Amino acid sequence: MKILLLNGPNLNMLGKREPEKYGHATLNDIVEGLSKQAEGMAIELEHLQSNSEAVLIDRIHAAMGNVDGIIINPAAFTHTSVALRDALLSVSIPFIEVHLSNVHAREAFRHHSYFSDIAAGVIVGFGAKGYSLALDAAADIFTH
Ligand code: DQA
Repeated sequence: MKILLLNGPNLNMLGKREPEKYGHATLNDIVEGLSKQAEGMAIELEHLQSNSEAVLIDRIHAAMGNVDGIIINPAAFTHTSVALRDALLSVSIPFIEVHLSNVHAREAFRHHSYFSDIAAGVIVGFGAKGYSLALDAAADIFTH
């Protein structure tokens, strides 16, 4: 099984960025941990973080037909990006939406997601652990 992990804008700043909301782990820490977990599950994991909507969209298009599922934290694009939503719909790859923080306990503009209604599932509020939960779920629900 092949899973694509996508992280959106500002997540390259994890560890330094508002640690009270997002924790102290860096993105590197998270991806390393997840890669180890994937190895033990015989899952091939590929990762891309980008601050650019276009780069994320192009990566999603390129995944068509060669990825079994996507785990995505669209970060701020969660609340703004019809284009990223349409990219996911256009490739018909099932995906899990992850947020480190509990977006529902935060500002009202974070309560709406352009992704949740088309996601296989959504994991919010468990910090870095959320990615690990998503990978476990991906192994169970995505088929190849
Ligand atoms: C986030 C929540 C978003 O509202 C925010 O813009 C982020 C991170 C999270 O993981 O909690 O950048 O997606």
